[in-house]
Amino acid sequence: MITHDIEAAAESLRRGDAVAFPTETVYGLGASALDTHAVDKVFALKGRPSNNPLIVHVSTIEMAQELVTSWPDHAAVLAEHFWPGPLTLVLPKSDAVPNNVTGGGGTVAIRVPNHPIALELISEVGGPIVGPSANVSGGVSPTAAAHVDGAFTPDILVLEGGACTTGIESTVVRVTVDGAQVLRPGVIGVEDLAKVVPVVESDPVSNTAAPLPSPGLLTKHYAPGTPTKFADEVAEDLLGAGAILLAISPAPAGQKSIQMPTEAGAYAARLYAALREADAMNADLILIERPTGNGPIWDAVRDRLRRATAAG
Ligand code: TXA
Ligand code: MG
Repeated sequence: MITHDIEAAAESLRRGDAVAFPTETVYGLGASALDTHAVDKVFALKGRPSNNPLIVHVSTIEMAQELVTSWPDHAAVLAEHFWPGPLTLVLPKSDAVPNNVTGGGGTVAIRVPNHPIALELISEVGGPIVGPSANVSGGVSPTAAAHVDGAFTPDILVLEGGACTTGIESTVVRVTVDGAQVLRPGVIGVEDLAKVVPVVESDPVSNTAAPLPSPGLLTKHYAPGTPTKFADEVAEDLLGAGAILLAISPAPAGQKSIQMPTEAGAYAARLYAALREADAMNADLILIERPTGNGPIWDAVRDRLRRATAAG
């Protein structure tokens, strides 16, 4: 059920229930991060493997510091530059963080979301809240309250916060005394990070340095139910009647299409809603015109499109 009542949402979270909440990236499936049972409910609702750790959302740097055993200078610099915002920092966890939040691992992922309703909610609750994307595991992340409403059994409260303005998930970086290592690309790119801290080379495909598998980095993810492919990878005869094209250039005559924005930020903000709309059109195939633009946002978009179009 969708609500505008932040106080009611906070009360549900304090009681130990799961509540979906808006952020600037995607909607999160919230629960009190310090309440093991509430966190278990999030794993159960999503059908998420228990070894896939959750992101913890805080409203202040002080709240973040209570969740970690060390706060390297690089973390302080990154937080100062990019929080609130779509950057998640992975640091050694403190005993305050229940083990199920981190999938049994020794590190915790933390961010301050740049959304006034999320910040007010966390302040009202008076503590950190976990927030994986509010979709069933493996599906397309939600960028509007309506995408979440009715998606879970049992039904949960969805705090309305409008359409997400960033539209794809945060950049996840591991922070050590050596610098930052990107574990999941997002709109804040390596070149942005490198302006303020050293960036440690990462292996974007297997992420072998990670203490735990990160399904956000696995190939097949963020996928619609309808088979989805890059248009330049299918034979000519598959184009046409049964397919719906996410187009950047003007679509060929007769091709059913959804016209996508040509600017990177606008494309990212529109992507998941467009995939959901295409999925609802009962097409045989979703085709995606491969974006060719440069820069961190296009790179992050291509990362999500690669996963949405991955076989298996
Ligand atoms: O923008 C976002 O990050 C959104 C909004 C709601 O904040 N949340 C989100 O959560 O995308 P989720 O659970 O869908 O993705 C979290 C990603 C996963 O790939 C997870 O494996 C990784 O972060 N992750 C979480 N904790 C980690 C840790 N301690 N070490 C390495 N990766 C971690
Ligand atoms: Mg997710």
